[in-house]
Amino acid sequence: MSLQRAPAEPAADGRLLTLPGGRDGIKVRMFDSKAEAGAWLAADIASTLSQAIEARGKALWLGCGGTTPRPVYERLAGADVEWPLTALAQVDERFVPVDDARSNTLMMREALEPILDGEDGPGMALYSLIEDITDQDKCAALAEKTLLELGGGKAPVFDFALMGMGPDAHYASIFPGHPVNAFVYDTRALVLPVAPAEDGSEPVLPRITLTVPAILNSQRIVFLIFGEAKLDMLKSHGTVTDPFISPIGAFLARCTAPVEFVWAA
Ligand code: 6PG
Repeated sequence: MSLQRAPAEPAADGRLLTLPGGRDGIKVRMFDSKAEAGAWLAADIASTLSQAIEARGKALWLGCGGTTPRPVYERLAGADVEWPLTALAQVDERFVPVDDARSNTLMMREALEPILDGEDGPGMALYSLIEDITDQDKCAALAEKTLLELGGGKAPVFDFALMGMGPDAHYASIFPGHPVNAFVYDTRALVLPVAPAEDGSEPVLPRITLTVPAILNSQRIVFLIFGEAKLDMLKSHGTVTDPFISPIGAFLARCTAPVEFVWAA
């Protein structure tokens, strides 16, 4: 199937490409630069959160870690949203102290600092998955308890989920070949500990991850991916539904929420 890219004229909302896979195709919104992609996505998140506040007086969303989303978080720090009425939870986290350079919590706190709840005044609440760094199972259990509290005693509904994807088709802390793929899609748990891969491949660090049912409890899911390698992986593995081979393909095949990718080279 030739993948026809849309005409090359610049478009404020990017150029739409639909790849085979998912429940009705994989929608990719392509931008000419990372800056344009990040600006569009930050505006989209801000608008979604403001609409949620308008509708029910508050907003709860999910943000991923890694290196890609930081500029989006930094742009959001300048957006006009009633931040004290919003809360941000994490898609997944490395099981390291929150002051460790590898911590997603550290990155998110630094990037979102101007709008976070703190000594300088009310702002967005950031819920780190690392509530205990002494024991991974206890940490996951505490994080699950927090999510249930956020959901009023049940799985919380996220107004928006900002996700990332690796060039190996992993997302969250769900990596190809990892045993977690045997149960992370159909579990009642909201949060799980993920052990490092035994062969030294990723995940090298122990992780804490939301489960697929927890992530799918989102009104809208957007994956932010940059570079040809990730786009090529989506083209080659978007239709592969074996989670041990293609976690992203398995996720998209099961994704009942509106989902799309935002991409730039
Ligand atoms: C993490 C992330 C992970 C990330 C992808 C993409 O903790 O690393 O949650 O799932 O989204 O690995 O990472 P990059 O944005 O660094 O490419």
